[in-house]
Amino acid sequence: MRHLLSPLDLSVEEIDQIIAVAEDIEKNPKKYSHVADGKKIATCFYEPSTRTRLSFEAAMLNLGGSVLGFSDAQSSSASKGESVADTVRVVGCYADIIAMRHPKEGAPMVASMYSPVPIINAGDGGHQHPTQTLTDLLTIHAKKGRLDTLTIGLCGDLKFGRTVHSLITALVRYPNIRFVLISPEELKIPSFVRDDVLRKQNIPFEEVDHLEDVMPTLDILYMTRVQRERFFNEEDYIRLKDRFILDQEKMTYAAKDMLVMHPLPRVNEIAVEVDNDPRAVYFEQAQYGVYARMALIMKLLGLEVPAC
Ligand code: CP
Repeated sequence: MRHLLSPLDLSVEEIDQIIAVAEDIEKNPKKYSHVADGKKIATCFYEPSTRTRLSFEAAMLNLGGSVLGFSDAQSSSASKGESVADTVRVVGCYADIIAMRHPKEGAPMVASMYSPVPIINAGDGGHQHPTQTLTDLLTIHAKKGRLDTLTIGLCGDLKFGRTVHSLITALVRYPNIRFVLISPEELKIPSFVRDDVLRKQNIPFEEVDHLEDVMPTLDILYMTRVQRERFFNEEDYIRLKDRFILDQEKMTYAAKDMLVMHPLPRVNEIAVEVDNDPRAVYFEQAQYGVYARMALIMKLLGLEVPAC
């Protein structure tokens, strides 16, 4: 039985295979409409979500399967004190696979130790978000035609932004990747990424606190929201939340083919005027999330790609 807790739970070959299947799903959706007939996914979300939960549900429905679950810890027996371990033991009796989001880092890993079915980490605190990474890699591959030889700027809340941690962890396994980490001092990338991933593998990166200067060097600008829910202090959040705002004026510094990505939800960090710029791909990115999660569900459930 396979779980997905971190991008490293998949080899580069497996990620490339998931991307290939997802790209085929985009082209031939009908071919996949009965692949998971009779299968069920449970979405156990202890923290709010729009894209991740609904795209997992859309993914399973598109494959012919069914969905169940809860979208709020208060509506589950967690509110009565039930542990994650007990919950997944039980939900695993009702579903073939579980996607779990939890505010506590490591909760999906604990779940994987007790679950009778595969666990997918759908975001754990400020730690990892591996299925957003599959979505991001699919978007980059679809738009750039490659996952190597890229300069990627990551901007905003790099401390608590779990999508950033997972994306870096995945991309360092491809050749000629360089990162520009753009954040205020207080929201710099944590040492479990800077030291344990980037420095350990001699990946070129720089840390800066200005966006305009580095814009011309980027193939991709990955914007992130300042994660209000992870702050201990509302004053710090208010002081930092609008530190980086991408607008059309700043876009004039970017290359003609630079992609603007964002895992969403957006607050103020990308002005709505940027939405119509052809380089802004964040809404397409959300669509790719369905294809990526369909391919992942197939992989973890051992479902074959249909012949036609
Ligand atoms: N990108 C993402 O995780 O969005 P949601 O919080 O809406 O699931």
